[in-house]
Amino acid sequence: MRVLVIHGPNLNLLGEREVDVYGKVTLSDINERLQEHAERLGIDIENFQSNHEGEIIEKIQEARSGYECLIINPAAFTHYSIAIRDALAVLQIPIIEVHLSNIYSREPFRHKSVVAGVATGQISGFGPDSYSLALDAAVRLRSSGA
Ligand code: DQA
Repeated sequence: MRVLVIHGPNLNLLGEREVDVYGKVTLSDINERLQEHAERLGIDIENFQSNHEGEIIEKIQEARSGYECLIINPAAFTHYSIAIRDALAVLQIPIIEVHLSNIYSREPFRHKSVVAGVATGQISGFGPDSYSLALDAAVRLRSSGA
């Protein structure tokens, strides 16, 4: 099973960015932990991070073939990028939306996800574990034939 993991804008600054909200764990730490978890589950993962909407859209389009699941933290784009939502809507594979923080317990402008309606499900609020939980969900979806 091959899973694409996309990290949106400013997630490259995890570890130094709003540490009170996101903690001190860096994106490389998250990717390393996820890689270890993927090896335990026998999954191949590819990680991609970009601060640019167009690059994220192009990467989502690449997931049209060769991947069995997409895990995406669209970061701030979650709340307003119809273009990312439209790109996701094309995919025929499960899409798991991930957030480190619980977006529903934060500022009101974060309560709305424009991508949630085209995602298979959303995991929000478990810090770096949100990603490993998403990988667990990917495995369960596959075994249930999704
Ligand atoms: C985030 C939540 C978003 O509201 C924010 O813009 C981010 C990160 C999260 O992982 O908690 O950049 O997606």
